[in-house]
Amino acid sequence: MSCTDSTSDGGPRIRCRRQGRERTPLRQRADEPPSPCRAAARHPRATGLPSRTKRGRDGEATAAERPLRAGTRQAGRNGVARAGFGPQAGPVTNDQARRRDGTDGGQETSAAGEELSLFADPRYAACYDAFFPWEDREDFHFYLPRVTAADAVLDVGCGTGMLLHHAREAGHAGRLVGLDPAPGMLERARRRTDVEWVRGDLRSVAWREEFDLVLMTGHAFQELVTDADLRAALRAVSAALAPGGSFAFETRNPALRGWERWDFEYSLAVPDPEGSGGTVRMAMQAEGPATPAPGGGTLVRAVTRLTGPAWPGLRTHRSAYRFLNAAELRGFLAEAGLEVAEQYGDFDGSPPDDSAPEIVTVARRA
Ligand SMILES: C[S@@+](CC[C@H](N)C(=O)[O-])C[C@H]1O[C@@H](n2cnc3c(N)ncnc32)[C@H](O)[C@@H]1O
Repeated sequence: MSCTDSTSDGGPRIRCRRQGRERTPLRQRADEPPSPCRAAARHPRATGLPSRTKRGRDGEATAAERPLRAGTRQAGRNGVARAGFGPQAGPVTNDQARRRDGTDGGQETSAAGEELSLFADPRYAACYDAFFPWEDREDFHFYLPRVTAADAVLDVGCGTGMLLHHAREAGHAGRLVGLDPAPGMLERARRRTDVEWVRGDLRSVAWREEFDLVLMTGHAFQELVTDADLRAALRAVSAALAPGGSFAFETRNPALRGWERWDFEYSLAVPDPEGSGGTVRMAMQAEGPATPAPGGGTLVRAVTRLTGPAWPGLRTHRSAYRFLNAAELRGFLAEAGLEVAEQYGDFDGSPPDDSAPEIVTVARRA
């Protein structure tokens, strides 16, 4: 099994696959640390093929049933190869992180002079689903049954809208709303017109008791880096939930210090989805030391570099991610009137513990 890993900027984890075309790592260092993907392969919970089946908390899947793990991945059907990316240091907002872009001459601004996030860039958005194909994402197989079971759903940070697209295709007949501030991503999402797409930021929306399910997937939750971001966002989620509604999201387990391996894990190369015949490469790595966040948890900064036919030069993007442990998370949820109803260590429903890769949480109004 060749094991090439990937993720996106604050993006989903994608697990090793044993099937599909092999991808060639873009770089291979003799001293490179063991891939979490390979480590995962030794972990009984982490090996195997993608699965679309829902599994129980303690239901050990057969090899053929085991889901993909987002964040590590092997040879993808889209010929994705390892390339790299990750987080930075010190208290910083994502807006501040982006203002530091440009050390490689890659920062981009809009015509109005505002700095563009990576997700705002239509060229990056065009590659996103190739970097993180549906089939490789076990997180979506955790969330999709919850979406189809809920009447009204808000997907916060919906990105290219893949989850809601699939929910509609699966026959969801109720209200589906995707929220994202990034025009590049939303433009992709809007290919499907039977979903409400809203350009906006969770921190400033004002829905009132409208949704049975609010979601944040692809580690979008970790892009809420300051205490103020977290509080405003969780207040908005709490207000948007209809009575009995739930908020489902995941955040990476800080105990694993996964960011230290991001340069190895989060490197990708895909054939240019625009069909130029060229290759789009992305490399993300943590930048600087991880630092304690003022209100608890850890702040990790990352730099992402992109090259490809659509970028005449190197496109560099800086961002920051907040890592909260389960107790810190509970504290922020409680401030917003939310409590944990379910919690898992991974999308396969395994119990949360220090060695689990994720803190997958379903919260409800207390
Ligand atoms: C890594 S992408 C995940 C996209 C999609 N949920 C998925 O799972 O593929 C993170 C998305 O969150 C969005 N996002 C970041 N901060 C946000 C905020 N404050 N409110 C709403 N969306 C936000 C970004 O624009 C981006 O599209």
